[in-house]
Amino acid sequence: MDTPTLAVDYLKASVAPDIKVTRLGYLRFERPDLDLAERFLSDFGLVTVHKSPQDLYLAANPGSSWCYHIRRSDQAKFLGFGFDCASLEDLQKLATEHNQHIEQGEELAPYARVILNDPNGFRVEINAAASAFDYGLPRNAATLNHSNSPERINAMQEFPAAPSPIVKLGHLVIETAGYEETVKWYTKTLGLIPSDTQVLPSGDPIVTFFRMDLGDTPTDHHTIAIAHTFQAAFSHAAFETLDIDAIGAGQQWLRDRGWRHAWGIGRHVLGSQVFDYWSDPWGAHHEHYADGDVFTADHAMGVSAASAQAMSQWGQVMPAQFIKPKLTLETLITLVKNLRKHSDLTVKKLAAIAKVMT
Ligand SMILES: [Fe+2]
Repeated sequence: MDTPTLAVDYLKASVAPDIKVTRLGYLRFERPDLDLAERFLSDFGLVTVHKSPQDLYLAANPGSSWCYHIRRSDQAKFLGFGFDCASLEDLQKLATEHNQHIEQGEELAPYARVILNDPNGFRVEINAAASAFDYGLPRNAATLNHSNSPERINAMQEFPAAPSPIVKLGHLVIETAGYEETVKWYTKTLGLIPSDTQVLPSGDPIVTFFRMDLGDTPTDHHTIAIAHTFQAAFSHAAFETLDIDAIGAGQQWLRDRGWRHAWGIGRHVLGSQVFDYWSDPWGAHHEHYADGDVFTADHAMGVSAASAQAMSQWGQVMPAQFIKPKLTLETLITLVKNLRKHSDLTVKKLAAIAKVMT
């Protein structure tokens, strides 16, 4: 199938971004049961670093700063996420641009941050002076015997089922009803640049993958992806595992404990990661991945046709259930409101998205 021509002109780096973020730091959720959340996330591979009756903090591994905060609440809700920027000067620039002040305090470690809301109401926190980031992983990465260059002599592979060793929080995917507005906000505010976009036959983008602008330093193909739907929602968060064996052994561990599998194992097309998705007890998807692409800032954006098949080059095709929203009276009201509010959201476009993605 020929790739349609991109029909919009706003998918590009901002010529004057407020700042350029340097690291995805953390996610924030509300959950009604901290013990249940901790059981799932521990089996997924995260490590508890602080727990009180009201708050649970987890890190990717014992050597890294916290990357996952859960506040106890009656409801299960995604609140937002945090990035690092390079300096206090950048933080001040951002604060001035958005008419905010710099908050200083302590949350397991001292922080200086600016708190913004994106156009969808997600809380986006920018932190200066990144905390130390080191690895405390339980094993080394696998040594692989390629057929023409074996590196493991007189030694066996041993990867029993175990929680995946996690290197870092890698990316998150958000859904939005106001696509153009949201994309422009992220490129201008955080200096993100598009790596790849997937489009409808009309040329309208429905999923775009953004990376951080670190200049000549290679960085992950995407740190945020933005998908077009009828409502603002959290799609998934992804955690980089030490290697591909960590994904397989981690899947076995999660299966043995009865958690809900969502999609995988497979290899993505855009970003190339080997992936495996799991649902937490409230239906939020959490991804293990390894062997993703890294790009420098000068790599040009790719454009390709969107489809469920285009989400993986091998492995399970994305199940329709994976992106299907729960249809309730509340979501129907949101749909009607958003059709009125966002000029780039139409019934025709939603029908086209449903057609190509299922
Ligand atoms: Fe992902």
